[in-house]
Formats: sequence, structure tokens, C-alpha cells
Amino acid sequence: MNSGPKVARISLLSTGSLSNDNSRRPHRSSFVDSGSESANARPSMKELGRQWSHHAPIYEEVFLDPFRPGVKNPVLEAILAIPEPDKKSIIDLGCGTGPLLPHLVNRFGTVRALDFAAGMIKHSRKRLGDDAAKVEFLHQPMHDLANLAGTQDVAVAINSIVMPDTRDIDKTMKAIRACLKPDGVFMGVVPSIDAIHYSTMLVMDRALDEGKSPAAAEARAAALVEHHMFEFAFGRFQFEKILQKFWQPFELEYRLQKAGFTDIQLVKLLYPWDDDIAGGDAFAEYPPSWDWTFQARP
Ligand SMILES: C[S@@+](CC[C@H](N)C(=O)[O-])C[C@H]1O[C@@H](n2cnc3c(N)ncnc32)[C@H](O)[C@@H]1O
Repeated sequence: MNSGPKVARISLLSTGSLSNDNSRRPHRSSFVDSGSESANARPSMKELGRQWSHHAPIYEEVFLDPFRPGVKNPVLEAILAIPEPDKKSIIDLGCGTGPLLPHLVNRFGTVRALDFAAGMIKHSRKRLGDDAAKVEFLHQPMHDLANLAGTQDVAVAINSIVMPDTRDIDKTMKAIRACLKPDGVFMGVVPSIDAIHYSTMLVMDRALDEGKSPAAAEARAAALVEHHMFEFAFGRFQFEKILQKFWQPFELEYRLQKAGFTDIQLVKLLYPWDDDIAGGDAFAEYPPSWDWTFQARP
């Protein structure tokens, strides 16, 4: 059976399944260390940007692509259904290596792509080639978007509202709301922690059905779903130096509302049971794993 927390985007290249390749896997102690440290001294935005930049060259190996074939991505469907896109402005917040951008250029009137990691912007430009000239790239953190106040018809954040400090998330959501036009829309994807519980349940139940003891079943689930990388109570996930927020749907709704958004809709993005998902096709007879997508109005 394969392993790797699905939303953790840890591909088999990095986690192996039951293999012993822990070369890229943070050890349990590294999580505990950074967890206790983080309570006092969380990395600054600049430092976080540097850490994300560091991952840019290996991003595709390590993180799942929510736009890859086989993924049922309601955000992409919603973007492609926007009427008269050539008259509209859209911003990709936390564009990363730019997997969304090819769907936006030559479609929307104004395309902006923002990221606080210079390395990510560099890879986005490379991905687009000549089309990069049609995108306005912004190298800045997304909690301060004063330069864009009231300018955007559409703001999109795909797996980028992942700041480990919820105060930064609240600030960011308010900034995003303020960058929208009154009839604008904010949509995106966030990594789900409830899907990690789902994988845990499936792996554990399979082990119990095979006659393992509850303790052995729990141990198998903890190992395969890589519980040592998660802080379940607070919804956080650590990969190397990057600590990321993982979401419950109720918290997503709560924080969007807290920032003043209305008409909030949450829908699951569905992943195919493949090698990138914990368990792979061993659980293909069950409903697929997911991340949470949202749409909201300012
Ligand atoms: C998990 S990646 C997702 C990238 C891309 N949206 C995708 O779907 O592949 C998160 C991205 O958000 C960026 N990011 C995270 N926090 C940010 C912040 N506060 N301001 C700007 N960019 C941020 C990171 O640099 C990284 O490129």
C-alpha cells in the first residue's frame, strides 16, 4: 500500500510507502521542536517566503497538482464559467510555480499573479514562456494588498491560505476582501485535515478487518498516514521547515465570515485514488479523498 498524506502533497518520491526512505521526511522530534518554538517565535513573513522559495525547484515532485487530469476541481470549473472574462481582472494569490496561470492568460482581461517567494515567481514565469509578459507579477505577501484596493473582479487562492498563524490568515482574508470590487468573488482551495482523518479511518478499518489488534491497526494508520507530520488539534502540518495550516470546513466558513465575506459556499475538490493519495487504489471502492474549495462574496 502506498502512503503519503494526500493533501500533504507528499508524493511517493518523498515518502515512499512502507519504504524506509525518510530522507525528506521530518522526524517526529523536528515537529515537536518547531511546534514549541513556534508558540514564541514563528518565522517572519520574509523567512516564510524564503522557505517557500527554497522548495520551488522541487515543488512538482513534492506537492500534488490540483489541476492535474483526474482531479475534479470545482474552482477551475467556476473560473472557466465566468462570463465575459476578457473584461475582467483576476489575481492568483500565492501563485506558486503557476499551474493555474495557463488557464487565465489569453482568457482574462487583466491577470495578476502574486507570491511572497521570489523562487516561485521565477518558476511561474518560466512555465508561461512568452505569455509571462501578459501577466503582472507581484512579489509581496498577501496580507497587505493596499496597492490593489477595489481592483479585482476575481481573487483566487489555491492552497495558499496556509499561514500557520491564524492572525495572519484573518489579516489576509480581510486584505483579499478589500482588493475585490463590490461585485467581485473570492474562490480557492484549502488543504483539508478532515480528509486526513478519513484516510486514517480507512487504513485502520482495513487493518482491523484483516484481524490486527486495535493497537496494531492504529500503529499502521499512524505510520501510513504520517501522523507525525500533523498537529491535529490545531490543524497544522509540517513539511521540512514549512509549517502549514490544514483546514476543517467549519473553520473555513468561520474565518471567511469573520473577514466579512457573505454567500459562502464550500464544495469538495475530489482527488482520484492514485499513487499520490495515501492508500493509492487500495481504497478505490470508497468515495475519493478531498480538499475544500470555497466561493465567497465581499
Ligand atoms: C502550497 S503552494 C500553492 C501554489 C499554487 N497556488 C498551486 O496551486 O500550486 C503555496 C504558495 O503560496 C505562497 N504563499 C504562502 N503564504 C503566502 C503569503 N502570506 N503571501 C504570499 N504568498 C504566500 C507560497 O510561497 C507558495 O508559493
